[in-house]
Amino acid sequence: MLNMRVGPASSIRGNISLPGDKSISHRAALIASIAVGSTRIDNFASSADCESTLACLRHLGVEIRRDGEAVVVLGVGKTGLKPPDGPLDCGNSGTTMRLIAGILAGQSFDCVLTGDDSLRKRPMNRIIEPLNLMGAALESTDGRAPLTVKGINPLKGIEYQTPVASAQIKSCVLLAGLNSNGVTSVVEPVQTRDHTERMLRWFGVDVAVDGTGDGTKISVLGNATLTARDLIIPSDISSAAFFMVAAACLEGSDITLPNVGFNPSRRAIFDVLSDLGARIEIIETKEICNEPVASLRIRGGLSGSDTTPVLRGPIIANLIDEIPILAILGTQLECSLEIRDAAELRVKESDRISAVVENLRRMGSAVTEFPDGFKVERSDLKGATIDSFGDHRIAMAFAVAGLLADDETEIIGADCADVSFPGFFETMASVVK
Ligand code: S3P
Repeated sequence: MLNMRVGPASSIRGNISLPGDKSISHRAALIASIAVGSTRIDNFASSADCESTLACLRHLGVEIRRDGEAVVVLGVGKTGLKPPDGPLDCGNSGTTMRLIAGILAGQSFDCVLTGDDSLRKRPMNRIIEPLNLMGAALESTDGRAPLTVKGINPLKGIEYQTPVASAQIKSCVLLAGLNSNGVTSVVEPVQTRDHTERMLRWFGVDVAVDGTGDGTKISVLGNATLTARDLIIPSDISSAAFFMVAAACLEGSDITLPNVGFNPSRRAIFDVLSDLGARIEIIETKEICNEPVASLRIRGGLSGSDTTPVLRGPIIANLIDEIPILAILGTQLECSLEIRDAAELRVKESDRISAVVENLRRMGSAVTEFPDGFKVERSDLKGATIDSFGDHRIAMAFAVAGLLADDETEIIGADCADVSFPGFFETMASVVK
């Protein structure tokens, strides 16, 4: 475990190149593996989480080569995976475990999925239930990993209403649906990131979306064939968010973030920062491989608002991973910031509500904790010792808090940033003035 010290900064300036999007990289590798043919994925995320996905796929007999920042995946087809010779280790990655379970449910063999201490505490009934309804047999210990997946082919197509807004549940069921007879549909109460739908279309799958009922219904057909097709991954907007907030909070900052993923189901952080008076500008937009992308410029300064902004309801799913860094932003706003309807944060890589509250208090900030969120008052942050709780987004959010504090901040267990952003601290140091 490595600790990092961060000192106060007056501004950040420069052009920041970010890792490839983690969510999209997972999907690209998983879907390319069950396609027919070879797929080159450029700008594949360098994150430890995506390495966990690649390691699991290799263990299932998929040949994957590294070529600099690209990976080349030799797809084996929808039912071509091989039984692994031991448990598949998903590391810290909930996305790896939940999405790969959907693929494994439709293979004709059994295997075990496990992960690190954090992942083995996270809820898995949310995928066990729909996959068992489809005819697979998943077993767990009290709804937690290790999971035994007893696959069957074909699965039964179902219509499944997700109990919580989660792109991981939706993606798991849709991926299982590719090996089902008939149609598989997921109805989500609130729209979550739609990278799986976009990626499946890129590989030639017909994905139907119907928003006429209560919630949105997304459907795939079990007889789809996936055809290999090269692609490029946009930069990760969730990684960009740390620098967007740091720049907005430090007067005199001026940063450019090229080719950031700008998918409407992921870019609420941009809208929120704009609404809160950040000087954030879109330089260019384009579409790369079915995903919208934008180059962004952010300059220092927040014009502020008179009433406490309250973020709640459907927007929460769109910025779920950005809430820790928004908490840091809250300390710099004239009128404080309240986040509600975000109880899902309690079952992320750490309990992110209590991690944010505990660490903000250590930095002298006044913060109220709710079961489903928190309220942060404007405060002058003091240098402190911060516990990352082994959670990458907590480590990076509080590194930004360290730039805003009056004195040095030490982040305990800062190396967990590698889970989504290897080189984060070096990148930060290179733009700090
Ligand atoms: C992810 C979905 C979100 C997010 C996670 C990545 C994905 O989780 O928090 O970091 O790639 O599908 P949930 O689907 O559980 O909300």
